[in-house]
Amino acid sequence: PLANFSVGPEPPRFRPAYLQANTSSLKLPKGFLYGVSTSATQVEGVVKEGGRGPSSWDWVCHNVPSTCSGQTPDVVVNEYYLYKQDIQRVKAMGVNTFSFSFAWSRILPFGGKGSPVSEEGLQFYDNFVDELLKNGIEPVATLFHWDTPINLMSQGGFLNRSIVEDFNNYASIVFQRYGNKVKTWITFNEPLAYCAVYSTFPFDPSQKGGASAALTPFICAPNLIEAHATAVQTYRGLVSQGKIAKGKISIKHDGQKPLPFDPDSESDRQVADRVADFFLGIFSQPIHVDGNYPQTIEDSFPPSVLRRFTDEEKAIIIGSADFYAIDAYSIAVAKTAPGGLEACISDMNNINWPICQDTDAVAQHTRVNGWPIGASADPLAPLFDTTQHMRGFFKWLSEKYPSPGGLYITEFGFAEPFEASLTELYQITWDERRANYLLDYLNEVLLAIHEDKIDLRGVFVWTPVDNFEWGSATRQKFGLLHVNFSAPGLDRTYKISFFQVRDFFREHFS
Ligand code: NOJ
Repeated sequence: PLANFSVGPEPPRFRPAYLQANTSSLKLPKGFLYGVSTSATQVEGVVKEGGRGPSSWDWVCHNVPSTCSGQTPDVVVNEYYLYKQDIQRVKAMGVNTFSFSFAWSRILPFGGKGSPVSEEGLQFYDNFVDELLKNGIEPVATLFHWDTPINLMSQGGFLNRSIVEDFNNYASIVFQRYGNKVKTWITFNEPLAYCAVYSTFPFDPSQKGGASAALTPFICAPNLIEAHATAVQTYRGLVSQGKIAKGKISIKHDGQKPLPFDPDSESDRQVADRVADFFLGIFSQPIHVDGNYPQTIEDSFPPSVLRRFTDEEKAIIIGSADFYAIDAYSIAVAKTAPGGLEACISDMNNINWPICQDTDAVAQHTRVNGWPIGASADPLAPLFDTTQHMRGFFKWLSEKYPSPGGLYITEFGFAEPFEASLTELYQITWDERRANYLLDYLNEVLLAIHEDKIDLRGVFVWTPVDNFEWGSATRQKFGLLHVNFSAPGLDRTYKISFFQVRDFFREHFS
């Protein structure tokens, strides 16, 4: 049946809001990457077979069930077995690229240098990558998307500098195995979220509000940056020795440049810059600029809290990225806290909601906002403010961290908690809010390229199928395809956004 794969009868379309902008004649540049994005823990399932070792997320979801809304990554959408179907579906969407992550503990069950290597684990990714290539879809591979082998967590995970060597060993195995097939690499997914929220998983979640827990992001960050840069050095070495094909490599950033709450307030503007330093600069400046943290951060934390890099370390860190990659979902607003210099941040969509709830400086600066877009139960929350401000964010990024390899939006997407309305005739989820949001966003991408002349080279929609949204598990849905989680076959059906995003690219590819 796969050979004759078809999307079935096509539903009627609604008229998306962005069409008012009249951008239908604008084309995407040649070579533009149009893709979807997933990560191992969120889709694979099959956590105990094939020699796979446990990861931090397996542990925490089983042992502190409330953290994962009482669910686990054990089965999720069973991509391990169903990937061929899903690749056919995204192929029908016309994507030319697919971003996925390797599960470290599927390849090295114990994670560290001494761990055996699971041939069965490697074979799974061989098959997966081959299937993408066979279907004309370019793989983009991430080495680390938050799932830390439990054995390494018990040694401190990214709070222990020895992980730099373990990560490099893992990276080297993966580069050598897939380096002739995968040409675009990402070392780490969203280092800010990882260091600020997940790096202490699962050993002390209860202490996360405590003073020492608040400083763990600043122990994690330099170790992660060093692990990234060391792996990039290994990659480039393998390329220059002719052991693998030449490709490109980077890191997938998260974080924001908030808008000042009052653009005329000098203090709100300073606070917005400060938040950008803590959210983006902490990883971006060392890697993309000069090996140093932003001055605001260096002034706030002594070397005893936040390790500085030596000249030798800087030499491998500076320039350890061939392009700039950002996961861009939302725009925050920053406001001066009542007591002084600290920042209060809020989502665009929640601009009228109380802000400055938490005045502890460290917590503020390292806090990752809750559900930015579409997740709010408030039907009055404006949906499109975020996309309008995205263009300004892309411009700011391309000026602050310019990269000869261009800018990629490695994730964007829209969350909805409830999406049940299937029409009888088409079995379609009518996710008009998501479709409108995605199209509006893509329209801003077109304008950024054509009007702002930003070197934007690709976008990846999070995510092809509803999946395991970490702490929200399957309660938050981001998929372009609906998954029936109560059906034994985890059946996929289409959402209207699937068709409308496909049509957008049909129209705008030359
Ligand atoms: C970013 C993360 O990389 C991904 O794992 C997550 O599912 C999406 N954001 C949506 O929250």
